[in-house]
Formats: sequence, C-alpha cells, structure tokens
Amino acid sequence: MLQKTVLLLALVTQVLMLENGLLRTPPMGWLAWERFRCNIDCDHDPKNCISERLFMEMADRLAQDGWRDLGYVYINIDDCWIGGRDAKGRLLPDPKRFPHGIAFLADYAHSLGLKLGIYEDLGKMTCMGYPGTTLDKVELDAETFAEWKIDMLKLDGCFSTAKERAHGYPKMSAALNATGRPIAFACSWPAYEGGLPPKVNYTLIANICNLWRNYDDIQDSWKSVLSILDWFVKHQDILQPAAGPGHWNDPDMLLIGNFGLSFEESRAQMALWTVLAAPLFMSTDLRTISPQNIDILQNPLVIKIHQDPLGIQGRRIFKSKSQIEVFKRPLSNGASALVFFSRRTDMPYRFHSSLLELNFPESKEYEGQNVFTGDVIRGLKSETNFTVIINPSGVVMWYLYPMRTQE
Ligand SMILES: *[C@@H]1O[C@H](CO)[C@@H](O)[C@H](O)[C@H]1NC(C)=O
Ligand SMILES: *[C@@H]1O[C@H](CO)[C@@H](O)[C@H](O)[C@H]1NC(C)=O
Repeated sequence: MLQKTVLLLALVTQVLMLENGLLRTPPMGWLAWERFRCNIDCDHDPKNCISERLFMEMADRLAQDGWRDLGYVYINIDDCWIGGRDAKGRLLPDPKRFPHGIAFLADYAHSLGLKLGIYEDLGKMTCMGYPGTTLDKVELDAETFAEWKIDMLKLDGCFSTAKERAHGYPKMSAALNATGRPIAFACSWPAYEGGLPPKVNYTLIANICNLWRNYDDIQDSWKSVLSILDWFVKHQDILQPAAGPGHWNDPDMLLIGNFGLSFEESRAQMALWTVLAAPLFMSTDLRTISPQNIDILQNPLVIKIHQDPLGIQGRRIFKSKSQIEVFKRPLSNGASALVFFSRRTDMPYRFHSSLLELNFPESKEYEGQNVFTGDVIRGLKSETNFTVIINPSGVVMWYLYPMRTQE
C-alpha cells in the first residue's frame, strides 16, 4: 500500500514537471537504425558498422552538404553502441567501436553545429541485447548522458513490463530534467501499449515526452510505409490532437535514399510525413545519396511547411472511390498544405475537385505553389474546379495562402 502511494505521488509530481522548452517544431536529423541496424562487424565492414567513424562521417555530411542549414541538426545513435557498465555501474560505449567515447562524439557534433542523440532501453536489455536501463539505473544513466552533453534520448521498451514502463518513462523524464541539461526525450512507450487509449493516455505522454513512437518499426518497403500511414489515418481523431509544439507523434524514420521506395513513393513519404508534422529523421547513407533524393529531402518549401510554427498535425480530409486521398495541414497566417495522394497502381490519374469541395471557406481566393514542380498557383477561387494529375503511389503537394484583399 505504501509503495503504491509513493508511485502515485511520483507520477503526480512528474505530470506537473514537464515543459523543457525543446522541439517547438518537429525535429529533423539523421538516425542510424533503419539503414545501419546492428551492424557491428567493423572488421569486414568498417565503413558501415555502428562506430564513431560512421557517426563522424555522417556528421560531416550533415554539416557540409547543406543539411544542417536546412534544419537537419540531430545526429542520433540507435541500438548497439553499448559496451557494458563500469565498476560504479555507469554506461560505457563499446571500446573498440567508440574508442574516444561518447563525450568526444558529442563535442564533435557540437563543433559542427549539430546535436547528438543517443539510445537506451527501459528494461534489462536493449532490443538487440545490450545492457538496458533498469529502474534503479534511470537517474545514473540520465546523469551520464548529461555529462556527455547528449541532446536527445530515445528510450526503447524491449524487455520491460507494462508496469515498469508506467513507472520508468515518467521517472526518466524527471531524471533528465533534474540533470539541468536540456535533453529532448523520445519515448517508445505508446508503441509497446498498442498506441491507443485506454492503455495509452496521450495527455500524460505529451506531458513527459517530446516525441513518441506510436506504432510498428518502419522497414525498407512501400508496404511498410502504407501500413504505418493506414494506422495513423485510422486513428487520426486520437493522434492528431496529441501533437503540438514540444510534443509529437512519430511514425518512424524516412526511407528516402534507401532501397525500397520508388521516386514517386519517396516524394509521397516526404509529403505525408510533413503534413503529419512527424519528426524527419533520415536513415540513409548521406555519403552516397543521389541528387534526386537530396532534392526531395532538401526541398525548402516542404521544410518550411514542416517547420510551421503553429505545429498543427494534418489530417486526411477526403477519400474518393478512385483511390485518391487528400490530406491537409493548417499553417500559420491562414496558409495550408494540401497533399493529393494516389493509391492507384495503373497510370497518372486526373483528379477533379475544388477547394470548396475540400471544405475551404466560400468565396475566397488563394495563391501559392505546387511544392515539387515549383509551378505558381494564382487566383484560385474556392469555387474554381481544378484538375491535378497524380502519379501511381505518388503525390501532388500544394502550399496555399489566401490572397490579400485590396485595401
Ligand atoms: C525542468 O522542468 C521545469 C519545470 O517544468 C522547466 O522550467 C525546466 O526548463 C526544465 N529543465 C530542463 C533542463 O529540462
Ligand atoms: C490522462 O493523464 C492526464 C494527465 O496526467 C490526467 O489528468 C487524466 O485524468 C488522464 N486520463 C485518464 C483517462 O486517465
């Protein structure tokens, strides 16, 4: 009974405690997992194994190839970096693969104007079997990360019980806060509870985490993108209100630049993740990425939409029998982003609609831009019938704002 009271009190204090001022817009950066997984074979694959070399080379690319200046500032380590714990129980990186230690890597990232993220797991082991953060280690590990000057922590949930998660995630949030260092907190908690109420309380999650994985891990295929998208759309009434400045739903990493997506599908993931106000974590080899994929990921208007200061997550607002769907994200100053998305697999489809049909207010006039082609849109009235041509598994994305009325 006493134990229960203590736990309850702990939860109550933590709810009153979170607002670390971080991630007022969804984070952008690079995360190792989807592309590089748990490749620890540095003897045979030194360029691609999880090691300080990989993170330093990606940091160089982020800084030198225009990424950082567009907002891709996080460089995040995922699983398989841990070597063990020292005599005092403090985490140590693998000494062979991270010979200079994590603080060195953080300094390196900071010297390039980047931020370093790290990974742990609230359980006895990480998903890949490395030492986890058990409940008794939460404070110690938070202090270690702060000493290393870490900027974001992704806390996974493998090998933990629901009870441990209910206690541990709020505890880590409080422990990070207590270090005094601003450390963004990425929680995998909801994903381990099925992502939905009543098991998941998104008010509570938003109070303790800056971002959170809701659903399955992404894999390098269009099928995986669609299954995640379908789940997010199906539950948008629950998920959409949970997001806002400082707290975001996370449908997982961008696949763009890897092996599973076509050009159209890559644009589609970029556009859809942007209207969902999702974190934009690339997970691809920035040393070899193609100019075409760079163009998708570095499109300045997409990034402007993604980073809109209102931080409102978009929704699917229309679904036609012809397998065309329309997504809308409201933006500041009355602007909005529209994504026309085709699930067809035949040929480019001529979709006819009007803004009125898409629930825009009557008798207004809009201008803007087709985000990927750069075509200018002028004098588009709510009532005007228009046609967009959408490629199979592709998108057309518009940025629209109301025309200023003449004074
Ligand atoms: C800790 O929480 C307090 C209260 O919400 C907040 O003002 C402060 O900025 C937080 N500090 C850090 C380092 O997150
Ligand atoms: C969800 O969490 C919030 C904040 O801790 C709390 O006020 C609310 O009562 C909880 N809702 C449910 C249904 O438990």
